[in-house]
Amino acid sequence: MPGTPVYFPAVPLALLAVLLLLTACGGGHLPQSTLAPRSDFSGELFGLYKDVFWWALGVFVVVETLLLIAVARFRARPGAAEPKPVHGHTVLEIGWTLAPALILVFIAVPTMRTIFATSGRAPEGALRVQVIGHQWWWEYRYPELNISAYNELHIPVATPVQIELTSADVIHSFWVPRLGGKRDLIPGRTNRIAWRADSVGEYWGQCAEFCGASHANMRLRVDVQNDSAFQHWVDQQRAAPATPAKGSPEEAGQQVFRRSGCIGCHTIAGISQGKVGPDLSHVGGRATIAGALFPNTPEMLRRWIMNAPSQKPGALMTPQNLSPQDLNAVIAYLQSLK
Ligand code: CUA
Repeated sequence: MPGTPVYFPAVPLALLAVLLLLTACGGGHLPQSTLAPRSDFSGELFGLYKDVFWWALGVFVVVETLLLIAVARFRARPGAAEPKPVHGHTVLEIGWTLAPALILVFIAVPTMRTIFATSGRAPEGALRVQVIGHQWWWEYRYPELNISAYNELHIPVATPVQIELTSADVIHSFWVPRLGGKRDLIPGRTNRIAWRADSVGEYWGQCAEFCGASHANMRLRVDVQNDSAFQHWVDQQRAAPATPAKGSPEEAGQQVFRRSGCIGCHTIAGISQGKVGPDLSHVGGRATIAGALFPNTPEMLRRWIMNAPSQKPGALMTPQNLSPQDLNAVIAYLQSLK
């Protein structure tokens, strides 16, 4: 019949859409989910988050129930008398003052406890790692092990780690959602995080403080390893960089590296001492390049060396004008530096 309104289930559809969206929030397969903690630090935060969630849900249910009752019971009806207002009801007034105050206490106490628990002091004997933020990459120094790492942080599982954060240029923020953070890296001061990762695996992080053109491209990767794998990695970093065999493409690449602009910015132990970009002594052993932004493959290295700023806005590395042959050789050399 013309003119009959067609029922369009807007509200149920909207709720369904929200439900679908929310199902995307959980789950441990997500690399940067705070809802899948894997350290004591992030476990504390998640516990607090759940506590506050249940309190908030309780308040929501009570308030909405009272609201619906009031709407149903006291709505205007033709001929009905005005409902009697509540005034000066001492018990009610004490009740609705005391209940929120108590709820705030129940939220404040665990919050304070979590603030102290995550304040960043590791127990005696923890592994120390100094994290230095650069535009736009991460430097990690292990003062007791006398090694360094770049963009990819390696730590042993079930071991307390004392992370000391500072910056070489502007303010950055260290954040690995499943392990801990965020905490700012501020030039001229040292902030601290302490955590103990509880599962071996790969964890992704991200700079969480706007720091310029490639802030969004300032990623990081944490490799939590069992003790023997970690020790193997430490030994690798301590070793001198691989020496290419005579006449090999890698050796040709080393020559290209020596005579090109590379040496002005990058260190390779025994070859160069540049300090502008990351140390490349063991770059072939990393899974990623360019601030953990791209996989460490010949193709990505090619694009990166040819024109880094086109891959990562603001990158300081200038485009290198190398012949295809030189480019292939230098890529082979870099990949051989395990
Ligand atoms: Cu570093 Cu944002």
